Amino acid sequence: MAKTLPGPVYHIKTRRLTLRCWAPTDAPRLEQAIASSLEHLRPWMPWARSQSQDIDAQVALLRRFRGDFDHGRDFHYGVFDRDDRELYGGTGLHTSAGEGARAIGYWLRADQTGKLLATELAAALTQVAFRVDGVRRVEIHCDPLNVRSVEVARRLGFTCEGTLRHRLPGPDGTRRDEMIWTLHEAEYPSSPAASAEIEAYDALGRRVL
Ligand SMILES: CC(C)(COP(=O)(O)OP(=O)(O)OC[C@H]1O[C@@H](n2cnc3c(N)ncnc32)[C@H](O)[C@@H]1OP(=O)(O)O)[C@@H](O)C(=O)NCCC(=O)NCCS
Repeated sequence: MAKTLPGPVYHIKTRRLTLRCWAPTDAPRLEQAIASSLEHLRPWMPWARSQSQDIDAQVALLRRFRGDFDHGRDFHYGVFDRDDRELYGGTGLHTSAGEGARAIGYWLRADQTGKLLATELAAALTQVAFRVDGVRRVEIHCDPLNVRSVEVARRLGFTCEGTLRHRLPGPDGTRRDEMIWTLHEAEYPSSPAASAEIEAYDALGRRVL
């Protein structure tokens, strides 16, 4: 599908959330959010086991995310409450899925889980991927043991294409299985993701959705 609307989308509002391109000034809030949730993140997010969590490391990380975003290489978003005051987590529309595709990743602070927020943010990013970026396919990759993540994909109408064995880095040098969930452009209009009400804005703050 050809690109349909001007992007990339820098800022998205959902019913309860703001998703926006990271700024290096988010580093203190990011550090606190990760520190408050390390035990919850470590089983599933390799970076929560290995990455240095100090403030300078977070600034460097967010500068890289921001640079990649501005250059159109990869699209990491911070997840905030709707008023952009509190940081709830991180997400992204990742280009690692290849040409004509995006992969959605997500994590939430432990105290913000259990409210369908990951489903809400993944629905919004799915819409942006199909309606603005004009991709043919959106993917969600997760460990089959990560039941909460599996349920996000299933709830939004994605189909499991298969499970790759021993693909994801796990703790202590082990490898985890990786499920690939996909939503194709023909499936998107009738999927639950298409009915989410969102606002999306470009780099100048012009509304594109
Ligand atoms: C994966 C993750 C983002 C999912 O977040 P989440 O809040 O559990 O998922 P959702 O936002 O979709 O919400 C689902 C939860 O809302 C609850 N819920 C509330 N109202 C609901 C409703 N009306 N219908 C269905 N579920 C409802 C569900 O019971 C479920 O909570 P539970 O798992 O405690 O039972 C989160 O668990 C996380 O950050 N995990 C660590 C990082 C990670 O694994 N990332 C993914 C790597 S692939």
